[in-house]
Amino acid sequence: MMSMLTMLTLAQAADGPTPPTFWMPTGASAHASNVDSMMWWINLIMWAFLALNTVLTVYFVWKYRHKVGTKFRTDGPDHNGPLELAWTVGPLLICVVLFVFGFKGYLDVRTPPKESYDINVTAYKWGWQFKYPNGAQSDDLVIPAGKPVRLVMRASDVLHSCYIPAFRVKQDLVPGRYTYLWFQSDFPTGMDQPTDGHHLFCTEYCGTGHSNMNRRVYVLPQEQFDAWTTKQANWLDEIPEEELYWKAGPKLYARCVQCHSLDGTKGIGPSWKGIWARVTGGEGSNGAFADGSTYSGLIGAGKQYATAEDYIRASIYNPGEHLVQGYGNVMPTFKGQINDKGIDALIGMMKKLDEFDPKTGAWLKTPPAAAPTASAK
Ligand code: CUA
Repeated sequence: MMSMLTMLTLAQAADGPTPPTFWMPTGASAHASNVDSMMWWINLIMWAFLALNTVLTVYFVWKYRHKVGTKFRTDGPDHNGPLELAWTVGPLLICVVLFVFGFKGYLDVRTPPKESYDINVTAYKWGWQFKYPNGAQSDDLVIPAGKPVRLVMRASDVLHSCYIPAFRVKQDLVPGRYTYLWFQSDFPTGMDQPTDGHHLFCTEYCGTGHSNMNRRVYVLPQEQFDAWTTKQANWLDEIPEEELYWKAGPKLYARCVQCHSLDGTKGIGPSWKGIWARVTGGEGSNGAFADGSTYSGLIGAGKQYATAEDYIRASIYNPGEHLVQGYGNVMPTFKGQINDKGIDALIGMMKKLDEFDPKTGAWLKTPPAAAPTASAK
């Protein structure tokens, strides 16, 4: 009982994350104290009635038990107006009060503040992609402390559900529809130790890789957060030119894989298999475009594209200009999403496709011993 009362007061204090309890993990968002005190009050009331009903039942069973030798009574009172009114109106009032507080809490959780910081979330089989306003991307969620954050969420394949227990929020992600989730955490977690941060789960069973969607949520002080997003947005700049194709290539290819296979499987777009041979006049280069042009007619000195690299670059920035025969005009432009260095990385990967796993796109070789090992991240 004592620990429960302590919890009630703790749940209402807001000067630090609430410690984990038997029921819930650390509470680290503005919603947490509300949700927790609601849960404790509902529990308290439930336990009180459980105790009252149990004690009365046992007592009456004992008091009014049939005694040997006494007459079996059938003439007891059949109702008691004031008593019936009390046990109807009393619980009703309790339910109304719980509803009012619960509904207010629900509206708070469902209504993001206008000035919130937006992070775009895509759930896919099986992972999360978090995109920040400056173009930075991450697999784990990183948020600024002391600022309302709104997740603008969509699913690219099946139903997923985003659950952050420490923030007391959960929301489904539905294909073809946007859903929101918002919260504010005032307590930085750091992100260097394996135990730093909070859990983020997918709580909608979405297939064999469902458990791979367990990630972390890191809360950083604003300054550190800004530095982190800036660094994330410019990650390409830090990779030396000669390591670009295997360090950045597979990471960038992750955005192409849904349409372009590496093993020759026909997808929404043409497979990358043999692409360098095709565009440089080797095997497969006779494959015409939908508009009748050919690789050799388009690429070369004095033609539309001076080099094969120019052609690849143009196909990424302006995919609809020359459609390969048999494929629709469905690829979005990647202008503004991938810079010249990123294009170099992809072209480098296309030139050495035999060094990559044809299924996953992972680089199959090991970096030369001299290469800096900090790349493991
Ligand atoms: Cu995604 Cu379970």
